[in-house]
Amino acid sequence: MNTICVVGLGYIGLPTATILSVNDAKVIGVDLRRDIVEGINRGEIAIEEPGLAALLKTAVKSGNLRASMTAAPADVFIIAVPTPITETNGADMRCVVEAAESIVPYLRPGNLVILESTSPPGTCRDLLGPILEQSGLKVGTDLFLAYCAERVLPGRILEELVSNDRVVGGVTPESAQKARDIYARFVQGEIVLTSATTAEMIKIVENTFRDVNIALANEIALLCERLGIDFWEVARHANRHPRVNVHQAGPGVGGHCIAVDPWFLVEAFPKTAGLVRRARERNDAMPAHVADTITALLADVESPRVAVLGLAYKAGVDDIRESPAVKVTSMLDKQGITVRCCDPHVHTASLPLCSVETCLSGADLAVLMTDHAEFKVLDPETAGAAMRHRRLYDTRNALDRDAWTRAGFEVTVLGAGPAPERLP
Ligand SMILES: NC(=O)c1ccc[n+]([C@@H]2O[C@H](COP(=O)([O-])OP(=O)(O)OC[C@H]3O[C@@H](n4cnc5c(N)ncnc54)[C@H](O)[C@@H]3O)[C@@H](O)[C@H]2O)c1
Repeated sequence: MNTICVVGLGYIGLPTATILSVNDAKVIGVDLRRDIVEGINRGEIAIEEPGLAALLKTAVKSGNLRASMTAAPADVFIIAVPTPITETNGADMRCVVEAAESIVPYLRPGNLVILESTSPPGTCRDLLGPILEQSGLKVGTDLFLAYCAERVLPGRILEELVSNDRVVGGVTPESAQKARDIYARFVQGEIVLTSATTAEMIKIVENTFRDVNIALANEIALLCERLGIDFWEVARHANRHPRVNVHQAGPGVGGHCIAVDPWFLVEAFPKTAGLVRRARERNDAMPAHVADTITALLADVESPRVAVLGLAYKAGVDDIRESPAVKVTSMLDKQGITVRCCDPHVHTASLPLCSVETCLSGADLAVLMTDHAEFKVLDPETAGAAMRHRRLYDTRNALDRDAWTRAGFEVTVLGAGPAPERLP
């Protein structure tokens, strides 16, 4: 049985550590946060992910998974720490550097180090390798180093960890082969081997592809608003073309991946990655468009109150990182508009959240920011009875427009917009 040290026990590291520990590995999970470490050792988790709590309990009970605030000797080290962007939209690699430095004292000949954090192409070769070599061991001969990104969908992480194909990139072919053997313990999808830099690029390309396509959808939605036509009808029928796939428009792009990773290419290749930059800027401008639309919809109301339905960056998750809803809320706040927020999935203490009933009570406008299933079944009559004005702004095209209109609501849908003269 191998010993595997997983550094970083968040959305990616914890499911990976857990699944490895129920697949014949002794796992030491490492995190800087004492609350996370102590929680895991009690068999408790801080993140919302279907099936994970039960599997973690099994893993901890079996003795195959324990968490610690410091690394320990192991056969394999997996690094899954955050790689956010800096203030100037560059890759912030500090956590990766610190995580790598923290394992250096424990490295032994024959060890394998795998980076899972989304990273600029060249990170294993040019950044991680030299740090690991501070151990006195040579990457490629004494040590093996590989890159293997996650491409799991939050909310389905445990299923997709097993069923998705994986791309494993080694700084040497032997590194890739050794890393493949680790993932083969639980991956049922195909495991493809390549170089580390290619695998790093593949991960960023996946998210950039999504970002650019969402930006195009958002731009078309804004054009439709200008034209006074319905983006959702345009997209639906354009997609009848067998080779067209117009993505969904929305209030912006959030989460730790799609809103972040394309910047790594823009930073590294500012002249060449112009299209990638424009797409990022288009998506980043959507929250301001939503805030402007809200202001326009409330222009005739004195001391307006807004009910924001949903803070998570997408449906069914508790993650608010880079969430457009958080940005819109703070923009409205700055304009002195009273905002109440509700989200049945988010439990972050630093944000003032209330129940959906309290949120709607006395509101002049309900704004659907996240298309959680709980909001889709809201009864428009009940919502309307609680509100001061019956106005709805659906930024996801998720609610039944006809039902809300029948209940006396003025309904505005992003991309289908208000009548052109009321546009910001
Ligand atoms: N969340 C996703 O859906 C997803 C999907 C694919 C790839 N990724 C990538 O995976 C990486 C991790 O993302 P995440 O969502 O799991 O992040 P996260 O913030 O949920 O978890 C990261 C954890 O690492 C810990 N940490 C930070 N520095 C550390 C250090 N030096 N030593 C030990 N622990 C440390 C933090 O305390 C935190 O608990 C990122 O690069 C991200 O882009 C995330």
